[in-house]
Amino acid sequence: MPKPIAMLDLHAEFAVFGEQIKAAVHRVLESQQFIGGPDIAELEKQVAAKLGIADAVAVSNGTDALLCALMALGIGHGDEVIVPTFTFFATAGCVHRVGAKPVFVDIDPKTFCMDAHRVRAAVTSRTKAIMPVHLYGQCADMDALRAIAREHRLVVIEDTAQAIGARQGDEVAGSMSDLGCLSFYPTKNLGGFGEGGMILSTNVDRANLCRRLRNHGQSQQYLHDVVGGNFRLDTLKAAILLVKLPHWEKFTQQRRESASMYDALLKGAPVTPPHLAPRNTHVYHQYTILCDRRDELMAFLKSRDILTAVYYPVPLHRQPCFAYLNCRCEDFPVAEDASLRVLSLPVHPMLTEEEINRVAGGIHDFYGTKPR
Ligand SMILES: Cc1ncc(COP(=O)(O)O)c(C=O)c1O
Repeated sequence: MPKPIAMLDLHAEFAVFGEQIKAAVHRVLESQQFIGGPDIAELEKQVAAKLGIADAVAVSNGTDALLCALMALGIGHGDEVIVPTFTFFATAGCVHRVGAKPVFVDIDPKTFCMDAHRVRAAVTSRTKAIMPVHLYGQCADMDALRAIAREHRLVVIEDTAQAIGARQGDEVAGSMSDLGCLSFYPTKNLGGFGEGGMILSTNVDRANLCRRLRNHGQSQQYLHDVVGGNFRLDTLKAAILLVKLPHWEKFTQQRRESASMYDALLKGAPVTPPHLAPRNTHVYHQYTILCDRRDELMAFLKSRDILTAVYYPVPLHRQPCFAYLNCRCEDFPVAEDASLRVLSLPVHPMLTEEEINRVAGGIHDFYGTKPR
């Protein structure tokens, strides 16, 4: 029996750097410093340097990165923030949590990222911010979004949770706006051991404001300039991420190689492979196809021990907690369609050629097609 093919193989990844991680954990245990310390500052320095961004602020998770970024940019009650309806919940949840109103827009049918035309149409006198999400690992159309932001004096926060290191032209995800937000959730391209996140900033003063906000707004001990939160990353997790960071580029390359194998092997099957927008590089956090009879295909692959996933089956305009916004499903036809037809295939860095062949073969067998 061949081994089941999963969306992730953290055991195989751990085999690559497990001993170094055990040594790093041991070092932190010996130090007994669990909050702050040199590992946090070193992680911030190394991620900022690798991405070529002025500053980076380690935080507790990607959701808190978004929340802290909204707080740092002064978004709150009475403000409207434009977000895509087709994303992970956190993007819009944070807007609601700071007291602002999420205004959903539809997505581009090719990249699944927010549609700039829809954004333009959604701007009102109350709009304060736009939050593009670089979904699946490639950037939203930042030139168009930044033009709208300039015209209407809006701030932009990039949700870079799924797209660490993705580029648009010569710019990197997270550097094309007022603040960018990373997640180190274990499934992410740079996944930690538990929760983790980071705020990216091209402006050091703004990064320092985020540093204060992550520590209850303290400028010095027990003196609070502003109200923040406890958004700190644990030292242990920073030490582990420092071990994983040098592997991240090679792992991204492995994802790209798997993606191009799928592109070739899926020719001839009635599915739409991921579209790479001009000027974008993709980091393939997900390799997401569009297909008909999606749920049947998913069950068929599962019967062959091949696991796939749907990101996301329920767009945010349909979420019960956002019923108060009175959204109409007809206003989001692309997201509605995508929620029924997207399917993410395994694309993790430890995937073998034989496994990719098995996944693609399963898709052809389901549709009764042959590779071209
Ligand atoms: C697009 C997007 N935004 C935000 C988040 C939130 O990150 P976290 O789970 O680290 O809070 C995630 C990941 O889970 C995500 O995929």
